Amino acid sequence: MNTYKIAVIPGDGTGPEVITEGVKVLKAASNRFGFELGFTWYDYGGKRYLRTGEVLPEGAVEDLKQYKAIYLGAIGHPDVKPGILEKGILLALRFALDQYINLRPIILYPGVDTPLKHKGPEDIDFVVVRENTEGLYVGAGGVLKKDTPDEVAVQESINTRKGVERCIRFAFEYCKRRNQKKKLTLCGKTNVLTYAFDLWERTFYDVAGGYPDIATDYAHVDATCMWMVKNPEWFDVIVTDNMFGDIITDLGAMIQGGMGIAAGGNLNPEGVSMFEPIGGSAPKYTGKNVINPLAAICAGQMMLDYLGEIEAAKAIEDAVKKVVSQDLKSLSAGRMGYSTTEVGDLVIEELRN
Ligand code: IPM
Ligand code: MN
Repeated sequence: MNTYKIAVIPGDGTGPEVITEGVKVLKAASNRFGFELGFTWYDYGGKRYLRTGEVLPEGAVEDLKQYKAIYLGAIGHPDVKPGILEKGILLALRFALDQYINLRPIILYPGVDTPLKHKGPEDIDFVVVRENTEGLYVGAGGVLKKDTPDEVAVQESINTRKGVERCIRFAFEYCKRRNQKKKLTLCGKTNVLTYAFDLWERTFYDVAGGYPDIATDYAHVDATCMWMVKNPEWFDVIVTDNMFGDIITDLGAMIQGGMGIAAGGNLNPEGVSMFEPIGGSAPKYTGKNVINPLAAICAGQMMLDYLGEIEAAKAIEDAVKKVVSQDLKSLSAGRMGYSTTEVGDLVIEELRN
């Protein structure tokens, strides 16, 4: 029997509640499809930081390398200054484990409300491939004369040929395997960021030469936002840098039904990958059993798919589709018509059928 060791980092806020439901569903899937999951829980997050002053303890990264995958809830605590936990845990893991792809499907399931008038599941079905280890996120730059009228702040975007190329290659391969419109759109800003996106554009068309069956397209990031609202059906796979990918995938989450359903994977195809709901820790809903666990459940589904348990992943996806179309009144916290734990139970019930 296939056995997978999974590190679980439930994190902050509602992270533990949604991850508990995700683990429940993953266990049900492993029972039904005949593989084994071994979960090891880690308490990294805001509470631990406030107690110990430590974000990731020494040796944490080496320790996490022994797992097949990491299942993450949410990082962010209202009593900790913004940036400390995000940089110290989430970004630190993405960088240290070289998870150079952030894969974010934007798929509207039947029966789910989208704020886009006249658009349905046939229109909203694409995937964003976000570069995940470079760009503005590397923390390059600095401050001079802080807290004086002459203060200078510089934050640089780092783009390497190697980093850009491996991301673009992944996107072409993914687009090929996805086998739908077979269209890859580069989202950039070649009209203003003439150094960074010149590198992206040249690399994009270099790599495209090896994929004659994939149609290529280019859109500036501002226009991408416009088209995602106006004509989302034009997209199949979008590839973009770290910052733009961050921004357009929040927009994407909204058109697919909200943070209640949006999931993503931080992938290192040669190493340890990490799967997470993208919505954050939602502190105001913490402990109320009202948050929607479907995004975490979908992140678990992406994890199984990535591990090669395709059938089980498909079954979870089908179960989620049924639950959103038949049962839930809304995907928003507190308005689902069910509690967090009940939604987990509904998915498991469908999974057993
Ligand atoms: C995301 C989040 C993170 C990011 C934050 C929490 C650092 O917004 O995963 O999209 O900016 O990447
Ligand atoms: Mn984000």
